[in-house]
Amino acid sequence: MTLRSVILGTGSALPRRRMTNAELATMVDTSDEWIVGRTGIRERYIAGEGETTATLATDAARRALDMAGLAASEIDLIILATATPDQTFPASATIVQAALGIDDCIAFDVAAVCSGFLYGVTVADNMLRGGAAKTALVIGAETFSRILDWEDRTTCVLFGDGAGAIVLRAEESDQASGRGILASRLHADGRYNNLLNVDGGPSTTGTVGKVRMKGQDVFRHAVVNLAAVMGEVLEASGIASDDVDWVVPHQANARILDATARKLGLAPERVVVTVDRHANTSAASVPLALDTAVRDGRIQPGHIVILEAMGGGFTWGASILRY
Ligand code: ACO
Repeated sequence: MTLRSVILGTGSALPRRRMTNAELATMVDTSDEWIVGRTGIRERYIAGEGETTATLATDAARRALDMAGLAASEIDLIILATATPDQTFPASATIVQAALGIDDCIAFDVAAVCSGFLYGVTVADNMLRGGAAKTALVIGAETFSRILDWEDRTTCVLFGDGAGAIVLRAEESDQASGRGILASRLHADGRYNNLLNVDGGPSTTGTVGKVRMKGQDVFRHAVVNLAAVMGEVLEASGIASDDVDWVVPHQANARILDATARKLGLAPERVVVTVDRHANTSAASVPLALDTAVRDGRIQPGHIVILEAMGGGFTWGASILRY
């Protein structure tokens, strides 16, 4: 037996307001045809009044706790991955903690943009196996709509808002066939800051700033880096790509998903795709897609699942687990 972090529940939350490509085409010079053809995105959800990163995160966390059959008081670690916190400080994880009525636990945010959930899962996994905590909520939540330049058609059509969460618990697991996270790998390369960033911040302009991206360059790096890091977790876990039941990728662009799966020889029907409905929700996209595939019955206990993401920094990472 070995100590592993096992997913006990998943949950997600979307804002009330749905925005179609047709609606976007009334705001900037674009079309449904261009957006679907280049990205696979058909619609996204946009946070409205009273909806914030922390409120969406709290809703997703409650659903994950419900599925796990746990009370909030059993959580001793909250890691919230976000690039769009409610406030510069304190961490939005502490806002979620208070909303869930948890008086004392470890709670902090991680900032790795679209890879944030993978960073959060890896940190939580290490803390759980190291004994710092027993039961964790790992959440990815974003309101990217609030940092988009709604006059820049090259970025504003790509993103949406939402949140996803998992409950992870340290449990003794059979070495060969037991559930839990089997291997994770993370990377960052800060030389590429200028290809994808926000042009503001508390310590520079004193403003929040807007998303800026050189899309084609990001695309090229994404396919190479994601295929490489998925190869790393396959090798570290000793699992063959043929034995992978599901890949739950960061939902940036349908063409990145296809190209990455092709590079690894993974059948496209094994890739969970939600980018058509949610667009790119940054740190929320992997847990949102995971929750979708768990709740619709595709991901079953015992299945081998790879989670992967790449984002601003660049940062990128992957985890492989037996669900
Ligand atoms: N509607 C219509 N036309 C557009 C739009 C739009 N929304 N946006 C750009 N165009 C135009 C451009 O102006 C350009 O016109 P031109 O040829 O007259 O100059 C033309 O379309 C082609 O533009 P490209 O940028 O070359 O288009 P490309 O095929 O590269 O697609 C895209 C752009 C979709 C952004 C693509 O590069 C991409 O997906 N990149 C990856 C970006 C990404 O996924 N980022 C997030 C990953 S990391 C993270 O999640 C934070």
